[in-house]
Amino acid sequence: MKTLRILVRSCPILVLVAIVWGMSIPSAKAPVSPRLADAHQIPSAVLPILDRACLDCHSDQTRWPWYNRLPGVAMLLRRDIRKAREHVNFSRWAGNSSRHATANEIQDICDAVSDGSMPPVAYQIMHPDARLSASDRDLLCDWANPAGNSQSMKTTQPAEKAKPTS
Ligand code: HEC
Repeated sequence: MKTLRILVRSCPILVLVAIVWGMSIPSAKAPVSPRLADAHQIPSAVLPILDRACLDCHSDQTRWPWYNRLPGVAMLLRRDIRKAREHVNFSRWAGNSSRHATANEIQDICDAVSDGSMPPVAYQIMHPDARLSASDRDLLCDWANPAGNSQSMKTTQPAEKAKPTS
């Protein structure tokens, strides 16, 4: 009984310790994608979303799914992935430190997830964890819209300067 009372009385301290400990975990273990090493220009909050919803098609690190072994499927997937990489290849962004994504490219990503075209519905059916929540989409769009987002990256496009009107 005595130990129980001590436990209850020290509870606020335990809670505090748990909170501090809990807060320290994400910073100690930043969520990075093992498939996009050196992706410094991609905000760390965005990486896990790309990892589970985009990288199978938009990177050089495709994890080929089991259904790739079904007759005829391999050819279709290969073609799709080739097209996807032509549009966006995050591996190229990550592997090339001098290559900065333009504001337009990031805006395209925001548009594609906002209108629901990405990730493709068929992919979401086969990979339920690729479905994006509203907050996932917000994070991708915050990246495109750096204002008010501390994690935002610099883009190669300088802010438009106001022109004198005379
Ligand atoms: C199953 C494969 C697959 C997945 C997963 C996928 N995409 Fe795509 N994506 C494609 C293909 C294929 C195209 C090219 C479509 C075309 O040519 O019409 C494409 C095109 C795009 C484009 C260019 C669209 C445009 O209008 O220019 C963007 C941006 C994009 N994807 C972003 C994403 C993002 C962000 C994710 C993850 C949230 C994602 N995609 C997940 C296959 C995929």
